[in-house]
Amino acid sequence: MKKITRRLATLMLCGATLFTPAAWATSDGVEVNHLGVNNTLVRVTGNGNYLLFPVQEANDDARIHVLVDGNIVETIYVRLARSKTDYTVPYDLTPYKGKHVVFEIVTPQGRESLREAKEDACWKGLELVDALDTINREKYRPAFHHTPLYGWMNDPNGMFYKDGKWHLYYQCNPYGSKWQNMTWGHSVSSDLIHWEHKPNAIKPNGLGTVFSGSCAIDARNTAGFGKDAVVAMYTSAGTSQMQSLASSIDDGMTFDIYAGNPTLTLESEARDPNMFWNEKLGEWNLVLAHALDHEMLFFSSPDMKKWTWQGRFGKGIGAQDGVWECPDLFELPVAGSDETKWVLLCNINPGGPFGGSATQYFVGDFDGKTFKADTGKDGNIPTKWLDYGKDHYATVSWSDAPDNRRTVIGWMSNWQYAADVPTLQYRSANTLPREVGLFRGADGEVYASCTPSPELEGLRDKQIRKAEKANIGRKSCSYSLPAAYDGICEILFDIDARKSKVVAMTLSNEEGDKVVMKYDTERHTLSFDRRESGLVDFSENFPAVTVSPTFEDKGAISLRLFIDRSSIEVFGDGGRFVMTNLVFPRRPYSQLSFSSEGGNARLSNLKVYSLLND
Ligand code: FRU
Repeated sequence: MKKITRRLATLMLCGATLFTPAAWATSDGVEVNHLGVNNTLVRVTGNGNYLLFPVQEANDDARIHVLVDGNIVETIYVRLARSKTDYTVPYDLTPYKGKHVVFEIVTPQGRESLREAKEDACWKGLELVDALDTINREKYRPAFHHTPLYGWMNDPNGMFYKDGKWHLYYQCNPYGSKWQNMTWGHSVSSDLIHWEHKPNAIKPNGLGTVFSGSCAIDARNTAGFGKDAVVAMYTSAGTSQMQSLASSIDDGMTFDIYAGNPTLTLESEARDPNMFWNEKLGEWNLVLAHALDHEMLFFSSPDMKKWTWQGRFGKGIGAQDGVWECPDLFELPVAGSDETKWVLLCNINPGGPFGGSATQYFVGDFDGKTFKADTGKDGNIPTKWLDYGKDHYATVSWSDAPDNRRTVIGWMSNWQYAADVPTLQYRSANTLPREVGLFRGADGEVYASCTPSPELEGLRDKQIRKAEKANIGRKSCSYSLPAAYDGICEILFDIDARKSKVVAMTLSNEEGDKVVMKYDTERHTLSFDRRESGLVDFSENFPAVTVSPTFEDKGAISLRLFIDRSSIEVFGDGGRFVMTNLVFPRRPYSQLSFSSEGGNARLSNLKVYSLLND
């Protein structure tokens, strides 16, 4: 004891102290207090509405407990900037006005000393602001596809239509442009073209983050949340995955988490509940992805709260190389007949036809208990794809759409590279909305078609080409595209290739970037080559050629293309085949040229519209 006292005295005499009090460093309404190499407190003392956190994408996540008046209200994960700031993300302080807000932050390991930790770029960059700056800074942000204002987006989910409004919810990360903090973002449209961003609808809570799910309008108040309440069923992703409910009595703007959650649990991974009212049976039906078992499970319920298992579908059937996710199940008429069929959408990742994620589907019958898929001529259940591009995933439909429409929308990306695409302020767009139909192919099987939703014609601005025609030979004939509109356009044309073997259609720009599409009349396929389409080297999985069957045997097709700043969607023969692919051209494509091998072909009805989303 004596020894220690003497040593202390010696140290004090030498001017040394045994500890440094951690001090609050104040700047413009934000105080920072470093408690240790990996632990920092940030206190808000000013009046701003948002605290901006500087982000560096290459970093690991910092864990942030948000304390309001001393209690943790939520925990978020942010890639706080260390050596440089890529962008900032806002934390909304408006719900906590007049209260004490403190962020208790644990940064990732790797800092050697407190002095080094204090140098992290994020501390100097913390800023309190009154308004959010969401001005677009991204060259590749689409002009007419839905994107989040900022931050990451993956699956569309929980979409419903009510009183003239299309509600679109989506998996989002409000605190960075990579996957994390899964929350339901929310946008609303009255025409499927113009989207209004709304506050996030369902946030992570005690049972975990909020994964994909569905919404249904409870017209009979079966759940007791109120007549016409919008009820969301989603996956709570905590240590395990469980299914939970949330209800809204203000048309999907705000949701109350159901106190009795979870409502459905399994001993294995299951997610993305899609529930709907089965009119014929007078009960709720639910299809749930039994992800790792590569199958879909079916349940029924009188009240959305108690679910009874009914059946399963999928073991060993269709594409099995990845997890089964994001199901949807609906009944549709088969064009030109009195027949109806059920369609089971089954998104799978990886295992798509061109690598990574894709939407497979099955056609068959559903009796409320299980799904029975139709077999092909060979007696096997065929694997069918809703879209033959590389960037079409997690496609599901709107519930309660008007006029018996089955309107779907997808996530226009691929899990292989979604976090690496060359954008920062936001990541990922949705596909265009599409109308699903059924048709019987030449082989006797029933297939799904996807046509652009009719509202999209409202985007047309100027008609630049009016039904032009030409003979196509070896030498290519070219048409300029509306450069004044960043090449954003819709192109329609018919190709008669009965006397040709292959017709090539090439989109190109002055930089030498090109997309080559080839209609092969012998194979009855359309291919899409984006290997030289612009920026492609951000991922080895991005350069690719995708190929779709054309479902025709007549040597003629008609195509409808939608070109936005970083995507091309090709709809063939009224949506009988579809291809959605991302592209990142260094400059907009300014030319479309046609050429033919193995004989001449005929181009007709070439129409080009510039598109304007005002
Ligand atoms: C599909 C998916 C879903 C899950 C969600 C999480 O892309 O993996 O199965 O609910 O993303 O964000």
